[in-house]
Amino acid sequence: MKLAIIGHGYVGLVTAAVFADLGNDVWVVGRTKEKIAKLKTGDPLFFEPGLEEVLKRNLKAERLHFTLSYHEALPGAQVVFIAVGTPPKANGEADLSSVLAVAEKLGPEIKKYTVVACKSTVPVGTNLQIKKLLSQKVGLAKDKFDIASCPEFLREGTALGDTFSPDRVVIGTENKKAEAVLLELHKPISGVRVLTNIATAEMIKYASNTLLATKVSYANMLAFLADKVGADIEQILYGVGLDKRLGRKYLHPGIGFGGSCLPKDVKALISTGRKYGEDMKLLEAVMAINSQAVDNLVTKVQYILGGKLADKTIGILGLSFKPDTDDLREAPSLKLIEKLKILEPSLKIKVYDPVAMTNAKKILKDVIYSKSAYETAENSSLIIIVTEWNEFRQLDLRKLAAGMKAKNLIDGRNIYDPKLAKKSGFNYLSIGR
Ligand code: UGA
Repeated sequence: MKLAIIGHGYVGLVTAAVFADLGNDVWVVGRTKEKIAKLKTGDPLFFEPGLEEVLKRNLKAERLHFTLSYHEALPGAQVVFIAVGTPPKANGEADLSSVLAVAEKLGPEIKKYTVVACKSTVPVGTNLQIKKLLSQKVGLAKDKFDIASCPEFLREGTALGDTFSPDRVVIGTENKKAEAVLLELHKPISGVRVLTNIATAEMIKYASNTLLATKVSYANMLAFLADKVGADIEQILYGVGLDKRLGRKYLHPGIGFGGSCLPKDVKALISTGRKYGEDMKLLEAVMAINSQAVDNLVTKVQYILGGKLADKTIGILGLSFKPDTDDLREAPSLKLIEKLKILEPSLKIKVYDPVAMTNAKKILKDVIYSKSAYETAENSSLIIIVTEWNEFRQLDLRKLAAGMKAKNLIDGRNIYDPKLAKKSGFNYLSIGR
């Protein structure tokens, strides 16, 4: 099939790479000349394991094309995927301006029957808005297109695997014709097919991401209590997770969820609820607990340093919102650093991240960048593990402690055995243990 994909962020680019690898002719449309030039060389513009290799392979095979022109990409495409951003507005609502602008631009280029499928995470009702725009504003005849909602469930860091073999493929359409085209396209992709209407498909995406966020906040809420009652959250959740009805996934406490999706989608669903007169109280609590998770860590910093923060140096290990990505959007590390600086402006903050340093340098100015975990620890009075990168999991704790002014370690992701950390000379705190 010929496909056009509008947008080359995580969703657009990974979708393009996967469908090109499966033998389709894929055209990706962007709007920035410099970015398109880089993409044409196989540079994904962000860190995602394995992606560069798949891009290069398919560019070489001429199955993957990058362009600034809708006119070049659209003609003959059986499916157009809209995969542009829907960032949150100040009131939490999803900003649909890019999605609608794209629909308006692609409309005039549709000459033959095309399925216009939205992969961007959009509030219920948005696809119908796209349909209205295409038929009323653009004047596209009814028999020239159908709309569809094809939400994406890939995670950063494992995006290729999640797209090649997802648990489910959700296809929301208004008729069998569009459904058949999308079923044909997804044939080589594994996963249960969920064939449904547009509104349901749109909601499945929000329901999934908000439930993941709810699980994380639930784990954090219990961890706050475990700390106070002398229980061990890891054992509590191990005990819980053995019940097959409950499981352990997304029940790892820490410093809260971040990234470009979970926080945004929880806020957007709250906002949709408000629009329809539904009070999404549970989700309000999920967001509140999420910021409490950062505050909880700040309290631990004050406690471990005996309230004496002035002129101290603190080392932060991990900046990206989770491992295997260089993405800093809504990263808890940034909130933590901001809060610590407000609490004590004389604090010196040293930071290290295996891949997110280049991005961090663009936004974090008042910190010292280190080259390794050990360099971060040198002369610091406290080390905080914020992101559970693999390379932080088996650090030589004695070596880490050796160069420190005071041997304090806060493990924000519970990756160390408290006994081992203490044996290595650390005054050690973790989350809910
Ligand atoms: C999330 C969803 O998992 C994907 O299914 C979805 O496609 C994607 O959003 C999206 O909407 O595009 P992602 O943002 O890449 O994927 O990140 P996750 O792996 O889900 O992690 C989200 C956050 O929760 C991270 O900050 C992570 O550290 C945190 N988390 C996760 C926890 O604190 N504890 C856990 O047990 C699990």
